[in-house]
Amino acid sequence: MKITCKSAAARLTKTELLVVLGKEGVKVNLPAGVTVPEIALETFGGTERETRLTDAIGGPAKRVLMIGLGKGEPELEVVRRCAAIAVKKAGKIGAGSAVLWTGAVFGRKAGGFGQALAEGAMMGSYQLTDFLRKAPTVLGRLAIHGDAALLAGVRRGEITGGANCLARRLQDMPANHMRPRDMVSEARRIARGSAAITVTVLDEKAMTRLKMGALLSVSRGSSEPAYLIHLSYKPAKKARRKICLVGKGLTFDSGGISIKPSAKMDEMKYDMSGGAAVLGVFQALAALKPDVEVHGLVPTSENMPDGMANKPGDVVTACDGTSIEVLNTDAEGRLILADALAHARRTIKPDVLIDLATLTGAVVVALGHELTGAMGNDEALIGALVASGQATGEGVWPLPILEFHKRDMKGKVGDLRNISSPGTGAGSSTGGAFLSNFVGDIPWAHLDIAGSAWGATERDYQGGALGTGVGVRLLLDYIEKQG
Ligand code: BES
Ligand code: MN
Ligand code: ZN
Repeated sequence: MKITCKSAAARLTKTELLVVLGKEGVKVNLPAGVTVPEIALETFGGTERETRLTDAIGGPAKRVLMIGLGKGEPELEVVRRCAAIAVKKAGKIGAGSAVLWTGAVFGRKAGGFGQALAEGAMMGSYQLTDFLRKAPTVLGRLAIHGDAALLAGVRRGEITGGANCLARRLQDMPANHMRPRDMVSEARRIARGSAAITVTVLDEKAMTRLKMGALLSVSRGSSEPAYLIHLSYKPAKKARRKICLVGKGLTFDSGGISIKPSAKMDEMKYDMSGGAAVLGVFQALAALKPDVEVHGLVPTSENMPDGMANKPGDVVTACDGTSIEVLNTDAEGRLILADALAHARRTIKPDVLIDLATLTGAVVVALGHELTGAMGNDEALIGALVASGQATGEGVWPLPILEFHKRDMKGKVGDLRNISSPGTGAGSSTGGAFLSNFVGDIPWAHLDIAGSAWGATERDYQGGALGTGVGVRLLLDYIEKQG
């Protein structure tokens, strides 16, 4: 969707649909010249997410959609949801374009509201239509009227919302169209689009030279070669801080020889959601230009069973020399992350390391689909991510990694094993404990997005079974606060 910005004072142009925002207990304020039946104004209460569609009697708009923001100063998450409701409704009634008139609803913090409006509108209009013979109508253009501060926010929201949509597009793309090599093409495309972003891609030969035995063991069972994508963003000014993001880019997880049951196995195309989020972040960095150096590593591979695949009991060795007993070939995410994290520590040496991964089914049990589980070795970092979660509506909840979780991941034949003992439980914490072995002393957070990457239903701006693009807006908020 394309958003255009119009000043609050600009005259309304002819439009199929005019969207206006209302507050509970306050009569809706329509732009000058627009009239609707009195009854529509009277029966619209302005409660949170309430909608009222009416034909216009006079003025440049054919129809008017009123949306309620609820009582008092609206929360940004409510604004996002309302904007998404509006664009979805516009699509449903077949409007190709619409005008959003913000009136004087936003006083303070107009920039934040503008950003939330544009984010909600961008995210609410996302659809993957590539494979449909007949695509449903979606709103193509939205003009937003507002004051300068609000419109500056709109421009940012268009970027962050657009980056979320890119991540979702990569997520929702079926695994035969989003192979490791396709992740590489996307990374190259993003780097081509910005002078501040460069990309290097390690292929299997390069990874063999670097002795990335854990990552390479996962791709051995697949006919698709694995890659380690390394994006880097350098600001114009010398940055004070260097952040490294690592995203699990498993384009399909069959489980390997420890094969998964066939029910819902199709969902394992989403096992690259961490990598998709990293790519989404980089697309937005090019436009937001924060004063922070950011690196993004995406280990990308398939996990398939065949004669070359990892066998339960195999021992593989990561690039830092750690040997790992692969007791379950379905715990493959931690194997590819082990090499990526060790590589980040040894070659990038960031001030902060954050990984995102659809790592464990256990986090879905613990936190469901609306929250991301956060673990690591640095309370302040986790606190900052929780705060960014609150600011963006991408909720983050801390989970522990304790000594006994770490002890449980020690191996018998190798230094580590890739699953815990059967009675331990706490699968997300033991997964995090495994990863903790590869980050050294670097302040590190592990975001388990196995629940939040798809299947969320609470937020109007993303949909049900499909990917959520989680992590993109969260990390952009975090990164911008470090600049
Ligand atoms: N990609 C899965 C995790 C997953 C499962 C994400 C279900 C979303 C929904 C991961 O590679 C995996 O299979 N993890 C195993 C780990 C276990 C073998 C220790 C799991 O969670 O069952
Ligand atoms: Mn797995
Ligand atoms: Zn997996």
